[in-house]
Parts: sequence; C-alpha cells; structure tokens
Amino acid sequence: MANSLIYIILFLLITPLELSIAKKCFFTPKYEIHVINNLPSYSPQLKIHCQSGDDDFGEYFPLLNEDVNWSFCGDLFGRSLYFCHFWWDEKNKVFDVFNDIETCVKDGQVPYFSRECIWIVKSDGFYLGHYNDNGNINMYRYTEWS
Ligand SMILES: *[C@@H]1O[C@H](CO)[C@@H](O)[C@H](O)[C@H]1NC(C)=O
Repeated sequence: MANSLIYIILFLLITPLELSIAKKCFFTPKYEIHVINNLPSYSPQLKIHCQSGDDDFGEYFPLLNEDVNWSFCGDLFGRSLYFCHFWWDEKNKVFDVFNDIETCVKDGQVPYFSRECIWIVKSDGFYLGHYNDNGNINMYRYTEWS
C-alpha cells in the first residue's frame, strides 16, 4: 500500500514534467509554420495537404483567414522538410514550405534565423512572411499559382 502510494505520487510528479519536456527541443531550435487562408470572400474553398517524411496532416479545408499552424524541432543536419499541395479554383500548386533552417526555404527572403515561416495564400499567389518587431507580418510574394 505504501509502495503503490509512492508510485502514484511519483507518477503525478513525473507526468507533467515529461509532457512539458516533450514539447521542448533539445539542441535544436523549434520552428513554427503557419498557413493563412487570405483568399477573397465568396471565392472557392481552399484545400491544402501538408506533409513531411514523418508527418502527414491529411487534407484540410481552411476557413477564410484561418491560421493553420504546426511546430517541430529543426534537425541538426538541416534535413527537416515540409511541403504542401494547395488547390483553389481549378488551380493548384505544390512547393516546400520549409527546407532551410535559416530562411524557411532555400530561396526565402526572411531574416536569418527567424523561427516562424508564415505562408499567406492569396488569389495572386503565395506570400512568405515573418513577424516583425511590432508583431505585424512582413511579407512578399514568393510564388504564383500555376
Ligand atoms: C494555430 O492553430 C490553432 C489551432 O490548431 C489555433 O487555435 C491558433 O489560433 C493558431 N495560431 C495562430 C497564431 O493563429
């Protein structure tokens, strides 16, 4: 009885610790990817499918202005890679949304070592941004719908 009480107390102490540790990254930075649906109102529904070698988020239908986001621990050897397939109004596009630990994507123009990669989907293409010091998003058009 005394033994099991000790185990229960240990369990209660250790479990929350383990959960909070699990969300932290050791030795590697934590990155956040955001995909924001900024398409015009009353336009066709956006569909996205994002995945990496290990994770497949399945098909998703973001509402207007919805922010779809996930985070992961960057790989020490720079091998982390996520890509998304986007469909909208007879158009579609596939590209990497993360393949570079310094600039989100190898040809990305975000400040070095920003930990957030913000993708904004608009009718004229895909914008890549980051939060600036004021908490606003600086962005530029990265690529167009094809
Ligand atoms: C990230 O996604 C969650 C839902 O998974 C949402 O509640 C949250 O608002 C999103 N973050 C931002 C900054 O919008």
